[in-house]
Amino acid sequence: MAEVRVEGLRKEFGKATAVDGLSLTVRDREFLTLVGPSGCGKSTTLRMVCGLERATAGQIYFDDHAVGHLPANKRDVAMVFQSYALYPHRTVAQNIGFALKMMRQPRRTIEEKVGRAARALGIEDLLDRKPRELSGGQRQRVALGRAIVRDAGAYLLDEPLSNLDAQLRVHMRAEIKRLHAEVARTFIYVTHDQVEAMTMSDRIAVLSDGRLQQCGTPEEIYERPSNRFVASFMGSPPMNFLTGSIVDEDGVRRFRTRGIAVDLPAAGGESEVELGVRPEHVLVSPRPEPGFLPGRVFVAELLGADVLVTVDVAGELIKARVPAPFHAGVDSAVHVGIDPAKVHLFAAADGRALTSTRGA
Ligand SMILES: Nc1ncnc2c1ncn2[C@@H]1O[C@H](COP(=O)(O)OP(=O)(O)OP(=O)(O)O)[C@@H](O)[C@H]1O
Ligand SMILES: [Mg+2]
Repeated sequence: MAEVRVEGLRKEFGKATAVDGLSLTVRDREFLTLVGPSGCGKSTTLRMVCGLERATAGQIYFDDHAVGHLPANKRDVAMVFQSYALYPHRTVAQNIGFALKMMRQPRRTIEEKVGRAARALGIEDLLDRKPRELSGGQRQRVALGRAIVRDAGAYLLDEPLSNLDAQLRVHMRAEIKRLHAEVARTFIYVTHDQVEAMTMSDRIAVLSDGRLQQCGTPEEIYERPSNRFVASFMGSPPMNFLTGSIVDEDGVRRFRTRGIAVDLPAAGGESEVELGVRPEHVLVSPRPEPGFLPGRVFVAELLGADVLVTVDVAGELIKARVPAPFHAGVDSAVHVGIDPAKVHLFAAADGRALTSTRGA
């Protein structure tokens, strides 16, 4: 199997719609991430692809073959469940090797594959334990091991890192990426963590309320979000938003809100907008500069190499990410520059991105 395609996929639970007309193609050997807030329909989508949940409407294709009617064990997919779903009475080794045993692979082969997976996951010492003797993070790694020993056409992973501590998560992020390169198969990865989505994926599909908001490479999603939701969900620290109007003043197109004005490059568009700008595109200067806005430091937080400076500009709190060190203390006067070339504009009415002004 290579390509996974869903068309008009829909799932209703009683009156509630969990997935609402999702169409998406996951290319052969691609690493595609479904990302979105809790309850947006990620697990439900994955369970329909896997065959554990029947779609209310729509179709699923594996390489142009409709598979909507096939049970999970006929679909050539390996899935890691958000809830682990380990066999409680079997040891870690038996859990990881279970599918291989069902396929009647030789014992030596099973031992070898289980051993290799356990080493990659750092759980070699736990092979004889039962799931109840493991921590949440260890159980999660067993669930991951159970999927990676299998030779499947597509790997479906539902939040496989959510219960790991921060350090292990960063480590496993890289391990899964390497695993993907090694096995060269289609991966569909689910997470609510936009950092995981950004760092691991070939492409990202952003979901909200069961609907696809945008699908594209991490760069496309980050640099050209198609609506306000995508812009606000992707990026950490998040984008700044200011609600205001676009006015034409002496031939200059300008964004205005209370005490703030930002000159914009030419281009038509809506008058009631939200202006979005990422913290790394906001400059902070101790001195007045042309086009900068006067403000006061609200708080400064050290991130490591950078400092996240929140500045009160005419009552709006604007966050800037500037290189460390940053010396101005709380309440000191500073000047904030918003790079007009990096500004995003969204229609106030429905949040859709207005034709990019940024030469995208
Ligand atoms: N078996 C079910 N019966 C009724 N409602 C369900 C069922 N499974 C999911 N839902 C509902 O469908 C919606 C989508 O759920 P889903 O589990 O797909 O979300 P999710 O994006 O995976 O969220 P999370 O990040 O919290 O895991 C939610 O509103 C959820 O309450
Ligand atoms: Mg889920």
